[in-house]
Amino acid sequence: MVALASSTEKRLTVQLAEIASGTTAIRSLDWDRDRFDIEFGLQNGTTYNSFIIRGDKVALVDTSHAKFRDRYIACLQETIDPREIDYLIISHTEPDHSGLVREVLELAPQAVVVGTKVAIQFLEGFVHHPFESRIVKSGIRLDLGDGHDLEFVNAPNLHWPDTMLTYDWGTQVLFTCDVFGMHYCSDALWDEDLEAIAPDYRFYFECLMAPNARSVLMALKRMGGLGDIEAVANGHGPLLKHHAEELIECYRTWSQAKAKAEKMVAVFYVPNYGYSDRLSQALAYGIGKTGVEVEMVDLTGTDQQEIREVAERAAGIVLGMPPSSGREATEAATAIGTILASAREKQAIGLFEAYGGDDEPIDPLLTRFRNLGLKPSFPSIRITETPGEATYKLCEEAGTDLGQWLLREKTVKQMKSLDSDLDKAMGRLSGGLYIITAKKGELKSAMLASWVAQASAEPLGVSIAVAKDRAIEALMQVGDRFILNVLEAGNYQSLMKHFLKRFPPGADRFEGVETRQASNGAPILAGALAYLECEVVSRMECSDHWVIYSTVDTGRVSKAEALTAVHHRKVGNHY
Ligand code: FEO
Repeated sequence: MVALASSTEKRLTVQLAEIASGTTAIRSLDWDRDRFDIEFGLQNGTTYNSFIIRGDKVALVDTSHAKFRDRYIACLQETIDPREIDYLIISHTEPDHSGLVREVLELAPQAVVVGTKVAIQFLEGFVHHPFESRIVKSGIRLDLGDGHDLEFVNAPNLHWPDTMLTYDWGTQVLFTCDVFGMHYCSDALWDEDLEAIAPDYRFYFECLMAPNARSVLMALKRMGGLGDIEAVANGHGPLLKHHAEELIECYRTWSQAKAKAEKMVAVFYVPNYGYSDRLSQALAYGIGKTGVEVEMVDLTGTDQQEIREVAERAAGIVLGMPPSSGREATEAATAIGTILASAREKQAIGLFEAYGGDDEPIDPLLTRFRNLGLKPSFPSIRITETPGEATYKLCEEAGTDLGQWLLREKTVKQMKSLDSDLDKAMGRLSGGLYIITAKKGELKSAMLASWVAQASAEPLGVSIAVAKDRAIEALMQVGDRFILNVLEAGNYQSLMKHFLKRFPPGADRFEGVETRQASNGAPILAGALAYLECEVVSRMECSDHWVIYSTVDTGRVSKAEALTAVHHRKVGNHY
């Protein structure tokens, strides 16, 4: 049964539904969530899912985002008397799920808060008045009675240090919060429409889970000790039932591929300090785009042996500046001492400010790393205002630069070893020369492309192969719009030269280039022979590229007689 309480004004609605015996979902539907965090790159809003499990005892699993305060609390009170809640299970403490913990505990002061040690510690600072709590870890069970026997599974770093999963042996529902989620908002309670949700599911994995691929594999291994999984009650998006097994296996396949990478970058950050977590996530996303593995490490909650092991194994180190005072400063200083003692010559290093109001200064630490022989692989990221889209994009691009720097020897080797007959034969495939230009929110980007072909006639459509480590790739998700600018034979050198340049992270690709705005918002290059306004329909993963199929809405040629510039190559395994 599904009931909707709606407010079309802000497009925030609440959906209530029975999902299993004695198990009710309260889903807060945020239809128009702005793109702010990097993982909200797609078009489809998000949901925050909370659950009530009724045995002889009653458990509430997670709450909602604070923006749903009135709607969520009203829905909760219509569904259950809060004084009947025995346990409030906290899967993880980020505010989109724990934003209403304080309010729920005011209504349900008798509830025992259940979570990992890290989660309980965080909530003690957040809730500001005493509450009863129970710290749990993998293998601990909590029998609610009447067929609801819960077992907890630690899943640290998916994607926060405090994450845990909860499995109900009675209904075989696995409550996972962020894990196996997606930012996809619709009335659909379940995952019937796999085609609709697949791009969001993948993009969300890339942003939140891929930087912790080894932790994902560890959590999947721990999940192996549970029974069958009838449904996944995740914290974002439609719940998984129809394709649960397949979508869980995707996590395994994708994580195994990440964990097989030859090189790894350790990203050290301080959760809950300034914007350290979000900025580190954007950096990790950028590194991951190059195929280099990332391991995210909490500077303040990880034991020194693990920090040493990760820092020694890493080909590169990225470090978010911790606070300069307080308990976290002391813990971070110890951790940084361990990293410095483990660091070695030729490792890449990159530092970023957290904008927490009390950051340790960057330069003295950078000097120490330099003196040890580490190579700064992007300019230190100094944050002077509240991070927005442009800052996160800068971090992503800095991460990509670092990943590409680590792979530079392999790339050069690959380019030099190209004289097989196959490479030469592939080189006889020619393409035109094009510049793709895109704008999304306040972000703009551009890329020289030649792997472009018409792909359909009705509707008109094109396919473009875009390397996974291109900055513009994030602006070419399903539903995004862009311009395909066609360069003119004999008149393309200056545009090609400009866009082939290596731009520093966050640089404006259009400085000094004459453009006008297309009806879809993207820049049209004044010097192009023709342009096509395109919208991304689907993306196919092809090893190191995405092949992006887009329909074409409109277009124009500036010179009727001119021809398209053609790109002839000698060999086929690089551009
Ligand atoms: Fe959905 Fe990590 O919060």
